[in-house]
Amino acid sequence: MESYTEKILITGALGQIGTELTNKLVEIHGADNVVASGLDRYQKGMTSAGHYERMDVTNTQLVRQVISDYEITTVYHLASLLSGTSEKQPLFAWKLNLEPLIHFCEMAKEGLLKKIFWPSSIAVFGKGIPKNDVAQEVVLNPTTVYGISKMAGEKWCEYYFDKYGVDVRSIRYPGLISWKTPAGGGTTDYAVEIFYEAVESGKYTSFISEDTAMPMLYMDDAIKATLQLMDAPQENLTIRSSYNLGGMSFTPKELASEIKNIIPEFEIDYKPDFRQAIADSWPSSIDDSIAKKDWGLSYDFGISEMSADMIKNLKVKLSK
Ligand code: SER
Repeated sequence: MESYTEKILITGALGQIGTELTNKLVEIHGADNVVASGLDRYQKGMTSAGHYERMDVTNTQLVRQVISDYEITTVYHLASLLSGTSEKQPLFAWKLNLEPLIHFCEMAKEGLLKKIFWPSSIAVFGKGIPKNDVAQEVVLNPTTVYGISKMAGEKWCEYYFDKYGVDVRSIRYPGLISWKTPAGGGTTDYAVEIFYEAVESGKYTSFISEDTAMPMLYMDDAIKATLQLMDAPQENLTIRSSYNLGGMSFTPKELASEIKNIIPEFEIDYKPDFRQAIADSWPSSIDDSIAKKDWGLSYDFGISEMSADMIKNLKVKLSK
């Protein structure tokens, strides 16, 4: 394998995945080799990266400038609108979720970048697919703006790899659960909010019904998987659209019962909103055997370990 010093740009670096991925990349590559970017104005301490660029990722000229200024080799392109918010702003969601990906692929094709990571989602699945253990290669029938943008993005990744050898890698993330930075506007976000409310007020009203199972993943495992995929030798990768990743599968009721084991007075009720239809269109569980075989995907957190870790950390965070 060609050896070079990685210079990394992360878009959406202040978001739910971005914050934790940036920390990990800084640990591995050193702060000076990591450039965080986002829409916020710079404030001291907002990122662990050595550099911060306030950047609208749809501004192609600016993005090209940043890539050239820092001699970026690798982009983690995380800026995106999630499923709930995308339904409210469909045209902007399409523009943000898709166009910058294509531009990054173009830059790689021109030799300006060596590697790209782009997150896809379980939202690519939809109507008429089985609910359980959904295989890698099934007909994708997304019913949401977000899912359509992710499905199209996957196809662009595959296209740029097949046609130009662009090394763009992707994971279909399930719902991501973390305590450091809240998500926003996602259908699976109930599984984050529930922990905040459990610790703060002892009760939660779920916008997803009690028996709706969705695939979920703890952030530590998501970061580990992302880096495993990015480090894997090219020749091991058999999927160039996006890898299925299943994590664990549970319902709001099952999660509430885990929380009650730690906070016995916790109470939950259910008032499903428009996101219920989105959840109903997604699988309950995913077959991720190809990722296990190709690049050694494995998980450290099940529902109990995750719940204990979330509550322990949120108790400290929310008491400050
Ligand atoms: N967590 C995302 C959402 O709910 C799915 O990828 O929008």
